[in-house]
Amino acid sequence: MKNFVLYNPVRVIFGNGESNDVGNHVKGLGKKAMIVSYEVHDFLNPLLERVHASLAAHGMETVSFYRVQANPLLCHIREAVEICRAEKVDFCIAVGGGSVMDSTKAIAAGVPYPHDLWKMFISRHDCEVAVPPTQTLPTVMIPTLPATSSEMNCIAVATNDVTKEKAYIYCPTLYPKISIMDPALTCSLPTFQTVIGAVDAMSHVLEAYLNGDQRSPLQDRLHEGLLVTIMDELRAILKDPSNVEHRANMQWAATLAWNGYIQSGLDAPTPMHQMGHVLSARYNTPHGVTLAIFMDAYFRYTCTLDSEREARFALLGEKIFGVSRADKTDREAAIATADRFVKFMDEVGAPHTLTAAKIPHEEIPEIAEDILIHGCDANGNLPSIPPIGKEGILEILNMAK
Ligand SMILES: [Fe+2]
Repeated sequence: MKNFVLYNPVRVIFGNGESNDVGNHVKGLGKKAMIVSYEVHDFLNPLLERVHASLAAHGMETVSFYRVQANPLLCHIREAVEICRAEKVDFCIAVGGGSVMDSTKAIAAGVPYPHDLWKMFISRHDCEVAVPPTQTLPTVMIPTLPATSSEMNCIAVATNDVTKEKAYIYCPTLYPKISIMDPALTCSLPTFQTVIGAVDAMSHVLEAYLNGDQRSPLQDRLHEGLLVTIMDELRAILKDPSNVEHRANMQWAATLAWNGYIQSGLDAPTPMHQMGHVLSARYNTPHGVTLAIFMDAYFRYTCTLDSEREARFALLGEKIFGVSRADKTDREAAIATADRFVKFMDEVGAPHTLTAAKIPHEEIPEIAEDILIHGCDANGNLPSIPPIGKEGILEILNMAK
């Protein structure tokens, strides 16, 4: 395990019905709040009305900004920042999934930011250095989709609508003040959102498990426990979508998957995310679908690259799928593990190929070029164990067809 600093100041309020008391939970953060949610938000209207009413009951004013879309756009963040400045908003509340929470963090950091907002984002290895925000308005997260852990991390991702680059801010300034996690809010999530949210959470665990420092048995067991929990709870939710206990376990598992705890000491790169961001930026492919695609192709490409990879995938398969290693070589067990992941994604209905995501195969060379620009290091390698060059990226994309 490598040395690490772990800092996570988010106050988590977890429980069924806690979102009904949001006004009480946020009192003290200011007099006026911007409530941020999706452009299409009919399904959240009852919750949004409750949030406004609860704040009003505690003497706070509210301004609505319902413009966020999946794969959130910089232009909407700019728009909201201008409204916050004009309205003298004191704090921001996100009501929605990762796109809404990420936008809310960027909006809150953007209000006091003295430069052009895109300067906050890191978009490519060869660009001028981003200027991280040093201040932010307080933020409150009310997540409605377990997936990104944005409710408990300091990351915000957005797409520049002009340059079509998908980029991120990773900065301690962005930690939310409070996250109100109310599992009951997730009981009515559509099946597709539930599935791709779970796939995203699994990918967060697997990026660290496969590509981080591999000398921590404790972190390994935490990862394996989270993966088994997410898969079991997803299966249970698909059978019984309104079961709040299963929803609660899924929500907390997704939060722990990317809030920094299980990544501590591993210093892991995120190759599947780097490749996935390019698909989202080019085709507006849902984030979770891009991860399903690369949990298929990237696994099949990397699992037999060398004996170390074979042993790692064999261990993973043994721990989470019960793949027997007694009667197999590590290579055979690694391939069986990759196959089991594909089977799992078929079982839960996650689209995991470029064809299923309607991504044109003839654009694979251009996709590879975009990955080289935005996801690779200055030497043209995608950070991963082992690092992957252009030929490997093309091979993964061709395996993803
Ligand atoms: Fe993700």
